[in-house]
Amino acid sequence: MYTSNVYRSIGCGEIGSTHAGKEVMMSGWVFRSRDHGGLIFCDLRDRTGAAQLVFSPDYGEKTIHKMAHQLRAEYVITVKGDVRIRPEGTENPGIPTGSVEVYVKELEILNKCEPLPFQLDQDVDIAEANRLKYRYLDLRRPEMLKNIVTRHKTCKAVRDYLDREGFLEIETPVLTKSTPEGARDYLVPSRMTPGCFYALPQSPQLFKQLLMVGGMERYYQIVRCFRDEDLRADRQPEFTQIDMEMSFVGVDDIINLVEGLVKKVFKEIRSEELPTPFERLPYSDAMERFGNDKPDMRFQLELKDMAGLASKSSFKVFLDALAAGGRVKGLLGKGMAGYSRRETDLLTAEAQSLGAKGLAWIKVKDAFESPILKFFPEDVVRQMAGRLMAAPGDMMLFVADKERVVNDVLSRMRLDIAKKQNLIPTGDKFAWITDFPLFEWNEEDSRFQAIHHPFTSPTEDGIKKIMDGGDLDLSKLKSKAYDLVLNGSEIGGGSIRIHDSELQKKILKLIGMAEEEAEERFGFLLDALKYGAPPHGGLAIGLDRLVMLMTGSQSIRDVIAFPKTQRAACPLSGAPSHVDKKQLRELYIRLNVPDEKPAAE
Ligand code: AMO
Ligand code: AMP
Repeated sequence: MYTSNVYRSIGCGEIGSTHAGKEVMMSGWVFRSRDHGGLIFCDLRDRTGAAQLVFSPDYGEKTIHKMAHQLRAEYVITVKGDVRIRPEGTENPGIPTGSVEVYVKELEILNKCEPLPFQLDQDVDIAEANRLKYRYLDLRRPEMLKNIVTRHKTCKAVRDYLDREGFLEIETPVLTKSTPEGARDYLVPSRMTPGCFYALPQSPQLFKQLLMVGGMERYYQIVRCFRDEDLRADRQPEFTQIDMEMSFVGVDDIINLVEGLVKKVFKEIRSEELPTPFERLPYSDAMERFGNDKPDMRFQLELKDMAGLASKSSFKVFLDALAAGGRVKGLLGKGMAGYSRRETDLLTAEAQSLGAKGLAWIKVKDAFESPILKFFPEDVVRQMAGRLMAAPGDMMLFVADKERVVNDVLSRMRLDIAKKQNLIPTGDKFAWITDFPLFEWNEEDSRFQAIHHPFTSPTEDGIKKIMDGGDLDLSKLKSKAYDLVLNGSEIGGGSIRIHDSELQKKILKLIGMAEEEAEERFGFLLDALKYGAPPHGGLAIGLDRLVMLMTGSQSIRDVIAFPKTQRAACPLSGAPSHVDKKQLRELYIRLNVPDEKPAAE
């Protein structure tokens, strides 16, 4: 990997038996050091890997052996030495350079290292706060290096693919105006225009649409997006999208292009040949069969409607839920008939913590077993078992409630059960979720809001209904939006956009935005759509999530060089931090913070 220079002739991880007898010069960090009194063994590490150095009192100058006693973990050194095949029985097949070692003749210590806050060479549980505070050390761990390399290779594959497909990489502003992706904005005060603020982009959505109006036809950007929202393992306040937009395309064109992109990435990074086309699932099917719009389809275990059978029982809980317009759905607890009373109680508590009022269960053994059996005629229970494909050894689980609660609880239990019962096969399963509703009801604000974003095109018949005026059932309108799901994670989303200014105005009105507000917030887009805007659409992939899944990481923080904590803080730099009064004055800002210290991490 390296060209020969004053520090090295070869990378530590690059030496092998073909170099036996040759002299090499290498530089890097002392990984492990074992002092056997006479011989001192030391693993030297750089980005290419690690090599075993041997310091012998009989080799090279005496002073070198003495100096080698001083070597400690993470000292930075340069050595010159001779490559030798390791004596039989001392090879290390665990590392690529394990057949050779380097007898050191010259040693220079380039820099020392303080005792480490945590070990880098052991796979021990290190508190994440500590890892983030000393991220520059954490990054030296081979596992982190591997993730960063995978991230780089993913971006490279993406750029190669999109370049070949005629896409232009174009930057869009970071100091901009609020974009409506549904999260809270990060704001930046303007010094030049007192009292005004820029918003950091939640995505480049509006600019990429303007680029289409500007005739760029195919745009992409690997771009940072900022969203002030509650953070989770797969959410960061600043994250990266592979953002794309195309003109003169329909849904299938975008889906095909993205499948090609993902296929190339998986082939290059994972040597995996993904079968395409990916399965497509209308939103309503996803909700009905899996209870959410990002189903993990690596395993079956589908939710089943039980309304018909439940109504043949005398179980009040089920009957009441149905009478109130709710749902009763069942889920198979594969292999869970052996659960003890305590375990089923725990399962019930789990369902309750997810929002259910309770959890009904029937164990399938030689006979059925359940406290609620008395409410069900035997043939109904048998039919319920038939619907869920429950066999002896299984347990049937039921939740009755409002549809949203039933789906929410059972979809999460589905994942928990699959994990606990080892039902998830290895391999990757992509799926497209299509035919999303255009709007959803926001209970808090008592109004409809766009499910994707308000620039998403309705379907053709929806457009007709909206443009015709007349009575509209907003909950029934469908959109040309699609999400890409991988193993139960939403890794991308996009849509065909509205390219007609009048339709765009009407949609903003339907979500309760007054004309003046629409003009104030999105006037520039509404204007642009009047000047020959082509039909266009696109999608954005969450790069961090994609790389997290490809590397098998538990958190997107593990694939970001300098991520933030759950509290959106950076323990390394100490951001966010207080600023000088002078800086605030320049920005015309007076603070109104309750008189307490900022919460500690
Ligand atoms: P959307 O909001 O669905 O679409 O975002 C696209 C993808 O970005 C990822 N993502 C995140 N990753 C990490 N942390 C976050 N806080 C976070 N939020 C989102 C997800 C998601 O699928 N402008 C539209 C795209 C379009 O219509 O073309 C948009 O931003 O993987
Ligand atoms: P109860 O009649 O409240 O004693 O409940 C009887 C059984 O039904 C218990 O096992 C509860 O966990 C279960 N149960 C209660 N409410 C629900 C519900 N909404 N959906 C499914 N099962 C429930």
